[in-house]
Amino acid sequence: MTLHRRIALALCLVSASPFAFAQMSDGTIPEAASQKADAAMDEYGKTLRETLMAKIASDGLVAAMAFCSNEAAGIATEIGQKHGVRIGRTSHRARNPANLPDHWKREALERFSLSVAQGKDPATLRYGDMALGRAQIARGIAVDAACLACHGAKESMSPEVVQELAKMYPQDLATGFKAGDLRGLMWVEIDGTPPVPVAPQ
Ligand code: HEC
Repeated sequence: MTLHRRIALALCLVSASPFAFAQMSDGTIPEAASQKADAAMDEYGKTLRETLMAKIASDGLVAAMAFCSNEAAGIATEIGQKHGVRIGRTSHRARNPANLPDHWKREALERFSLSVAQGKDPATLRYGDMALGRAQIARGIAVDAACLACHGAKESMSPEVVQELAKMYPQDLATGFKAGDLRGLMWVEIDGTPPVPVAPQ
């Protein structure tokens, strides 16, 4: 190999490396991981909704807010452990800064926002990617009528709720939604997911 070619090759490798790194995320989620994530997300979504609605019916909105604030993280941990995954919720407009997205969830939220702008229903949106043995899976969350008491326009919310929100979440970005909007996403991470096997040679 001539010196000239060696230099050209070295330059090529340097400039290719960020691209090669991006390629390590191959986009194919193994079926077993996808099923595990679905089961966890089904239970998580259902549990959050049912416990929140039961609390609103029995103790009212303000008590339900405190409940949401104290219990949401615990419910995620419990269901995650049961299914052998990490699970949670995030949003481009978070109420609790602890729920703000990290890199891959931000990307999923951006894709979901684009799809919603093109007329898709947020509840039908799905994201899946593999990154270095970690399956990263998300589902869109839509706003519906039941959410507006705590995430709708402030003018139409009860003054007690608005007051409580200001106290509990001074950095709240999660009001002003309308039914049908993208509220955020539910996410799952599964470490140590074996890659999809390559067809035998
Ligand atoms: C009783 C008030 C109340 C109702 C009703 C309510 N939420 Fe929330 N929501 C909250 C509170 C409080 C938090 C912050 C929880 C925390 O501290 O993690 C929150 C957080 C969230 C988050 C996590 C991201 C963030 O903004 O921090 C999502 C997603 C969410 N809500 C979606 C919904 C959806 C969808 C509905 C309707 C089905 C709904 N909520 C109904 C009070 C409510």
